This record gives sequence, C-alpha cells and structure tokens, in this order.
Amino acid sequence: MKLSSYMPSSELIETYRSAGQGHVFDYFDQLSESDQQQLLSQAGEIDLEEMAALKRDLIDGDAAASVDLTDLEPAPYEARPENGGDEAAWTDAEKLGEQAIRDGRVAAFTVAGGQGTRLGFNGPKGTFLITPVRNASLFQVFAEKIAATGKRYDATIPWLIMTSHQNHEATESFFSANNYFGLSKSQVRFFRQGRMPAVDLAGKILLSSRSSIAMSPDGHGGSLRALDRSGALAQLEQEGIDTISYFQVDNPLVRCIDPAFIGWHLRGRSEMSSKMVPKAYAGEKVGHFCVQRDRAIVVEYSDLPAAVQEETDPATGELRFIAGSIAIHVLDRNFVKRLAWAGSEAALPFHLARKKIPAVDAQGNAVNPTEPNGIKFEMFVFDALPFAKNPIVIETRRENDFSPVKNAEGVDSPATCQVDLLRQYTRWANAEGASLTTDENGLPEFSYEVCPSFGYDEASFATSWAATSDSPPITAGAILT
Ligand code: UD1
Repeated sequence: MKLSSYMPSSELIETYRSAGQGHVFDYFDQLSESDQQQLLSQAGEIDLEEMAALKRDLIDGDAAASVDLTDLEPAPYEARPENGGDEAAWTDAEKLGEQAIRDGRVAAFTVAGGQGTRLGFNGPKGTFLITPVRNASLFQVFAEKIAATGKRYDATIPWLIMTSHQNHEATESFFSANNYFGLSKSQVRFFRQGRMPAVDLAGKILLSSRSSIAMSPDGHGGSLRALDRSGALAQLEQEGIDTISYFQVDNPLVRCIDPAFIGWHLRGRSEMSSKMVPKAYAGEKVGHFCVQRDRAIVVEYSDLPAAVQEETDPATGELRFIAGSIAIHVLDRNFVKRLAWAGSEAALPFHLARKKIPAVDAQGNAVNPTEPNGIKFEMFVFDALPFAKNPIVIETRRENDFSPVKNAEGVDSPATCQVDLLRQYTRWANAEGASLTTDENGLPEFSYEVCPSFGYDEASFATSWAATSDSPPITAGAILT
C-alpha cells in the first residue's frame, strides 16, 4: 500500500508504528511545523508493504544471497561480420536503422541519476570534464553526438535525461548555463527517477536527520517507471517515436544513436536489444548475457562465481560466458509502457547493497559511519530482459562503444578513457589516410581532439574528411571541428 501524504498525520504515524517503523517519528514533537511537514511528506511517499516484503525476502530471507544460477547458458549473439557474422544482415540492419532515424522514430536516453561515489566527483557525473584538449564534459560530448547525428539524417532527435533528486537542479542548470550545447531546449528533457528509503541492517528505515528519511535513487531500473510517470513516454508517442536508445552517463565512447543497432532491433521485432563486447579477461567487472530456461538474463559480475567466469569453451579456448554487458540497449516504447504499468506480475526485482549511510543514531545525533551500516535498494534495467519479446544481443567493438569513467584512478578512469578517445580519433584519421605515427597500442605521439561535429563515428568522420579540400591538419593540440 502506498500511503498518501494527505493522510492525517496521526493516522500516518500510526501506520508506521504498526509496520514496526514508528521510530521514524521519534523526534517528531521536537520539530518545527515545516520540518514536520517535510517528514510527513517523505513518509507518505514510501510503500510500507513493499518495505516489509523487501525485509522478508532480501534481508531476513536468502533471496539475495542465492541468485539462481541453475540452467545457465551463455546467450547467443549476432557476431560482427569480421568475426564470422552475416555481413548482408549487418548491411541490411544499418540501412533499416538509418531510415528509422531519418523518419524521426528514435530518441536518445541517458541514465544520469547515479551518485558517482567511486569517481569521487562532487556534482552530476555528466558535468565531469573528459575530452583531451577542449575539456568538454560528458554531457557536452553526448549533446554534440546527438546534434551531429540529427544533422546527418536531417532529423530532430529528442534526448531524455534521467536525473535523481540529488542532482536534478544542478543538471538542469548546467545545461541552461551552456545553452543546451547547441540543442534546442525542447529537445532535452529531464526527469527525476524514483527514490527508496535506506534501512539499517535489520530493515528499519534510516533517518538522515531528525526530520528527514535517508532516501536514495531507486536504481537505473527505476527509469522504466520514471519514463512513464514523467510524461516522457506519452510525449514520444505523440511525436511518433517508438525506439529509445539507452546508454549510461559514464561512457563517452558510446554511439548514442547507432543505425546498425537500431536496425537489428527493428528487423528482429525486438522489445529490448543489447550490445555486448567479448570480455577482456575473466574477471572484468561487467554483467554477463545469459539464457536461463529460454529467457534472456544478465548476471552481474558479483553474482557469477569466479570459477564460472573462468570456464572456457574447449573448442575455441575462449571464455564460455564471453558476452559482457556494456549497458547499451534499445528499448521499444510500448515495452517500457507495458512494464511500467504491469504491476507486480512484471515488476523488476530490487537488489540490495550494503553501504555506509550517514544517519542519526538512537540518540538522534548525526553519524558518519566507517563501516556499512545500512542497505540501499535498487532496480536494474537489465532485469527487464526476461520480460522482453525477441531480445537480441549484438556484438560491438569495444573501441567503438565502450570506455567508461567509473574510478578516479586505474582501470575505467578518466586517464584510460582519454587514451581510448585519442586512439579512436587516430583510428578514424588513419583509416582516411592521415598517416599519424602511433605506438604499438595505437596511440599517437601527441594529444588532439575530434569534435563530434566533425566525426562521431567512422562513417561521419570519413564524410567530413572527404569534404575538406585539404587534409585537416592534425598536430599537437589541434581541434577538428
Ligand atoms: C553497470 C552494470 C554492469 C555493466 C556496467 C558497464 C549495474 C548494476 N551494472 O555497472 O552490468 O557491465 O555498468 O559499464 O548497473 N544510475 C542511475 N540511477 C541510479 C543508479 C545508477 O541513473 O539509481 C546510472 C548511473 O548514473 C550510470 C549507470 O546508471 O549512468 C550505471 O550505474 P553504476 O552503478 O555506476 O553501474 P556499474 O556498477 O558501474
């Protein structure tokens, strides 16, 4: 039962007491009237029955501890032509995808509600500066790619951005201060994702202060409901857009709108399609595309035992569970709507994560824990896969689509991502005859930058290169625009 914040306060408080969550109101009588209202309104947002079920199943029960790994098989996928895939089918898919973009059937969608804790960056992750010369932000890179794709196909591509309560205003202000990076204001649509209360290790709702419940974003799986609730889906429907190109805010290499991927999705009448890369090594921290009793699923790296991740195919010597998820999907609009409206029969499950959550102690004093003291609940978008008709997984080349910025240093950091960007520009340029000298890792001798307006993939780069009368100069610090 979802409580209403309009419920009389005494009734609401009583409902909390009978649910064993009455401590939420321990300091209520000491609060100012406006703080009381804030607490009541937060409390009214929470579904106490859902919280009780989560405690029963995930905290007291063992549903979380025992992810079902029975009958697990590696998922089939459409291999790239150079790896034995059907070249004619790839060409056909690309044409179909291009036509869908031209016809204005496609929107871009970024999930940007995460907190970026691992990166240690204070602010919406999309505002993080990433490109090697211009220092353009992640958001700027995506905006420019979307604008350039729209220009190439003479279409307006709306861009949906899911934020969280924590970063919504800061995200909107960033776009407004930067004139939407050349996109029109109506093209960029922000909406907030839902929230869930954090609980202590015994399932009691945590207070972040005496007047406020510790709420946190409900995971990128919350995007399906939020797309619907925000009115974004209805607007897409009015505009005749049925295809949603989904990607994460942390990955500037992504082709925001990839014609071949969209074409595979459409020709397969798929409701949810995904891109995979062959895992770089057994322990790489990505999800795995699998099939379980005829249903497509993703099993997270943390849930698949190391021994299974290390299994190899005796015939090829390759990893058996090789298909790594890079969190890039195409979603059918009606599928999103169906899941958002489905209720419990197709509800995405919640996953729990034990975290250090600033909270008030039994005396009402704020504490910053040094050890995990609580639990956050999140839904994952890939848990929609088992509900999708005709799910398709296609292979992509890592260097064309994936170099996420997750950690401050080391693997998947700004440093590795910048190197990958530079390598990508150089591959495109050398394919057109730029003759840049590279080391054995494909890295040029100096840093420069290719703006998405000049090229956002091999094909668009080639078009711009061919249209330039002299070869564009690529020297240290150059910016091709
Ligand atoms: C994720 C995937 C993993 C995949 C990898 C590829 C999960 C659980 N795992 O890992 O399978 O291989 O990416 O890079 O997702 N976000 C929200 N709201 C939230 C939480 C997250 O919008 O409540 C967004 C973030 O802003 C980010 C994305 O979701 O864009 C990924 O979140 P993150 O928690 O960083 O996922 P990973 O653990 O890195």
